[in-house]
Amino acid sequence: MRIDLLSIFPEFFDVLDLSLIGRAQQDGLLEINRIQPRDFTTDRHRTVDSPPAGGGAGMVMKPEPIAQALEHVLDSSAGPGAGEIDRSESGLSESGPSESGPSESGAQERPVLIIPTPSGELFTQRAAEELAHRQHLVFAAGRFEGIDQRVTEWAQEHFEVRPMSIGDYVLNGGEAAVVVMVEAITRLVPGVIGNPESLDEESHAGDGLLEYPVYTKPAQWRGHEIPQVLLSGDHGKIAAWRREQQELRTRKGRPDIWARYVVAQERESR
Ligand code: ADE
Repeated sequence: MRIDLLSIFPEFFDVLDLSLIGRAQQDGLLEINRIQPRDFTTDRHRTVDSPPAGGGAGMVMKPEPIAQALEHVLDSSAGPGAGEIDRSESGLSESGPSESGPSESGAQERPVLIIPTPSGELFTQRAAEELAHRQHLVFAAGRFEGIDQRVTEWAQEHFEVRPMSIGDYVLNGGEAAVVVMVEAITRLVPGVIGNPESLDEESHAGDGLLEYPVYTKPAQWRGHEIPQVLLSGDHGKIAAWRREQQELRTRKGRPDIWARYVVAQERESR
């Protein structure tokens, strides 16, 4: 899977070089590139923002540096649209900073462009599962009050555009949301996690229930004990206990998920 990350703070993504995602990059399972929109400005101050049309607080990210950065991504990927971009407004040379030629088959899918924004579609485990099957993801993180809306409109000519929110709260910029989404998506890419069975039993996986509680040695710890059933060796009983715990946790902690689960169960039993 190829991932391109656009941000005026590309160092923000250094965390993705650690642990499992870092290893997956070294192993060639993931290619993660960082792109600085300031590299596509022409003025001395490398300006990427300007005041909002119609007035109001803050600044808006200008469309041209982001569009040129996205064109650079298209030029360096083999997908359809590369080399066919109308640069009449962009000032970018016709050859562009190309790193690879067009695809041989020409049948590659369009890259997905994810624009993190609190006004986007909610990013869920289902979305992560769906996006983990794609070959090429591009994330464009905005700062300030966001990116000029026309980038979203223009980009639909070349990408499958998905404005996405990671939750109902506001961050200072899209970078933290990008890290969350990239981690949730890439851990589902085959080979990134050593033991793929662990993915099936997690919260939000499969039927959507929350995870059961886990314990390890010692059996007694500061006056707290591991539930006896887990030490019984009876796998049937252990599975039943874990299921019960999942249901208890979900009913208590996430009544919204519980309500959906009950409806789905009823539908299945009909
Ligand atoms: N940018 C700012 N807040 C955000 C959120 N909740 N989700 C995605 N991107 C954001």
